[in-house]
Amino acid sequence: MVYVIAQPCVDVKDKACLDVCPVDCIYEGERTLYIHPDECIDCQACEPVCPVEAIFPEPELPGEWAAYTRVNAEFFQVSGIGSPGGAAEVGPAGVDHPFVAAVPRTQQKGQGHG
Ligand code: F3S
Ligand code: F3S
Repeated sequence: MVYVIAQPCVDVKDKACLDVCPVDCIYEGERTLYIHPDECIDCQACEPVCPVEAIFPEPELPGEWAAYTRVNAEFFQVSGIGSPGGAAEVGPAGVDHPFVAAVPRTQQKGQGHG
Protein backbone atom coordinates (compact mmCIF):
# COMPACT_ATOMS: atom_id res chain seq x y z
CA MET A 1 0.00 0.00 0.00
CA VAL A 2 1.09 3.55 -0.67
CA TYR A 3 -0.15 7.04 -0.02
CA VAL A 4 -1.64 9.14 -2.80
CA ILE A 5 -2.06 12.90 -3.28
CA ALA A 6 -5.49 13.68 -4.75
CA GLN A 7 -7.16 16.66 -6.37
CA PRO A 8 -7.47 19.00 -3.33
CA CYS A 9 -3.74 19.69 -3.64
CA VAL A 10 -4.08 21.05 -7.17
CA ASP A 11 -3.30 24.79 -7.22
CA VAL A 12 -2.88 24.76 -3.42
CA LYS A 13 0.51 23.07 -2.92
CA ASP A 14 0.78 23.79 0.79
CA LYS A 15 3.93 21.62 0.95
CA ALA A 16 3.58 20.79 4.66
CA CYS A 17 3.85 17.18 3.54
CA LEU A 18 7.35 17.75 2.17
CA ASP A 19 8.69 18.61 5.61
CA VAL A 20 7.48 15.43 7.28
CA CYS A 21 8.22 12.70 4.72
CA PRO A 22 11.21 10.78 6.12
CA VAL A 23 12.25 9.35 2.75
CA ASP A 24 11.72 12.49 0.62
CA CYS A 25 9.39 10.68 -1.79
CA ILE A 26 7.01 13.61 -2.45
CA TYR A 27 7.85 15.37 -5.71
CA GLU A 28 6.74 18.76 -6.97
CA GLY A 29 4.97 19.27 -10.29
CA GLU A 30 3.61 22.54 -11.64
CA ARG A 31 0.12 22.48 -10.06
CA THR A 32 0.34 19.67 -7.53
CA LEU A 33 2.68 17.32 -5.75
CA TYR A 34 3.00 13.57 -6.33
CA ILE A 35 3.98 10.67 -4.08
CA HIS A 36 6.36 8.16 -5.61
CA PRO A 37 4.65 4.77 -5.24
CA ASP A 38 7.93 2.84 -5.29
CA GLU A 39 9.60 5.08 -2.72
CA CYS A 40 6.76 5.68 -0.21
CA ILE A 41 7.26 3.56 2.91
CA ASP A 42 3.66 3.92 4.07
CA CYS A 43 4.64 5.69 7.29
CA GLN A 44 1.46 7.80 7.46
CA ALA A 45 3.31 10.97 8.47
CA CYS A 46 2.08 13.08 5.57
CA GLU A 47 -1.65 12.43 5.77
CA PRO A 48 -2.51 14.46 8.92
CA VAL A 49 -0.42 17.53 8.08
CA CYS A 50 -2.14 18.42 4.80
CA PRO A 51 -4.48 21.37 5.52
CA VAL A 52 -6.80 20.50 2.62
CA GLU A 53 -6.87 16.74 3.28
CA ALA A 54 -5.49 15.84 -0.11
CA ILE A 55 -3.51 12.80 1.05
CA PHE A 56 -5.03 9.34 1.43
CA PRO A 57 -3.87 5.77 1.88
CA GLU A 58 -4.60 4.26 -1.52
CA PRO A 59 -7.42 1.96 -0.27
CA GLU A 60 -9.19 4.96 1.30
CA LEU A 61 -9.04 7.22 -1.74
CA PRO A 62 -12.53 8.67 -2.38
CA GLY A 63 -14.10 7.28 -5.55
CA GLU A 64 -14.23 10.66 -7.25
CA TRP A 65 -10.44 10.79 -7.09
CA ALA A 66 -9.74 7.15 -7.91
CA ALA A 67 -7.70 8.21 -10.94
CA TYR A 68 -5.06 9.72 -8.68
CA THR A 69 -3.48 6.37 -7.87
CA ARG A 70 -2.56 6.13 -11.54
CA VAL A 71 -1.83 9.86 -11.78
CA ASN A 72 0.73 9.77 -8.96
CA ALA A 73 2.43 6.67 -10.40
CA GLU A 74 2.44 7.76 -14.04
CA PHE A 75 3.77 11.23 -13.25
CA PHE A 76 7.22 9.77 -12.78
CA GLN A 77 7.26 8.44 -16.34
CA VAL A 78 5.52 11.48 -17.86
CA SER A 79 7.96 13.89 -16.23
CA GLY A 80 11.01 11.76 -16.93
CA ILE A 81 11.91 11.81 -13.22
CA GLY A 82 11.90 8.03 -12.92
CA SER A 83 12.91 6.74 -9.48
CA PRO A 84 15.80 8.86 -8.20
CA GLY A 85 15.30 7.92 -4.55
CA GLY A 86 14.68 11.43 -3.25
CA ALA A 87 13.05 14.68 -4.35
CA ALA A 88 15.58 17.14 -2.94
CA GLU A 89 18.04 16.97 -5.80
CA VAL A 90 15.30 16.84 -8.45
CA GLY A 91 13.52 20.10 -7.63
CA PRO A 92 10.20 21.28 -9.10
CA ALA A 93 9.42 19.46 -12.35
CA GLY A 94 7.51 22.32 -14.02
CA VAL A 95 5.18 19.79 -15.63
CA ASP A 96 2.14 17.80 -14.56
CA HIS A 97 0.43 14.54 -15.40
CA PRO A 98 -2.06 15.33 -18.22
CA PHE A 99 -4.95 14.50 -15.88
CA VAL A 100 -3.87 17.28 -13.51
CA ALA A 101 -3.06 19.68 -16.33
CA ALA A 102 -6.67 19.29 -17.50
CA VAL A 103 -8.20 20.23 -14.13
CA PRO A 104 -10.04 23.56 -14.55
CA ARG A 105 -8.31 26.45 -12.82
CA THR A 106 -11.13 27.34 -10.44
CA GLN A 107 -9.05 28.08 -7.37
CA GLN A 108 -7.15 31.32 -7.66
CA LYS A 109 -4.61 31.36 -4.87
CA GLY A 110 -2.53 34.21 -6.16
CA GLN A 111 0.05 32.00 -7.78
CA GLY A 112 1.71 33.69 -10.72
CA HIS A 113 2.16 32.13 -14.09
CA GLY A 114 5.92 32.14 -13.75
FE1 F3S B 1 -0.48 19.38 -1.40
FE2 F3S B 1 -1.33 19.02 1.01
FE3 F3S B 1 1.16 18.48 0.44
S1 F3S B 1 -1.86 20.70 -0.31
S2 F3S B 1 1.64 19.92 -1.17
S3 F3S B 1 -0.62 17.45 -0.38
S4 F3S B 1 0.43 19.37 2.32
FE1 F3S C 1 6.31 9.90 2.71
FE2 F3S C 1 5.35 8.46 4.61
FE3 F3S C 1 3.77 9.95 3.21
S1 F3S C 1 6.90 7.84 3.21
S2 F3S C 1 4.72 10.06 1.25
S3 F3S C 1 5.36 10.64 4.55
S4 F3S C 1 3.32 7.94 3.96
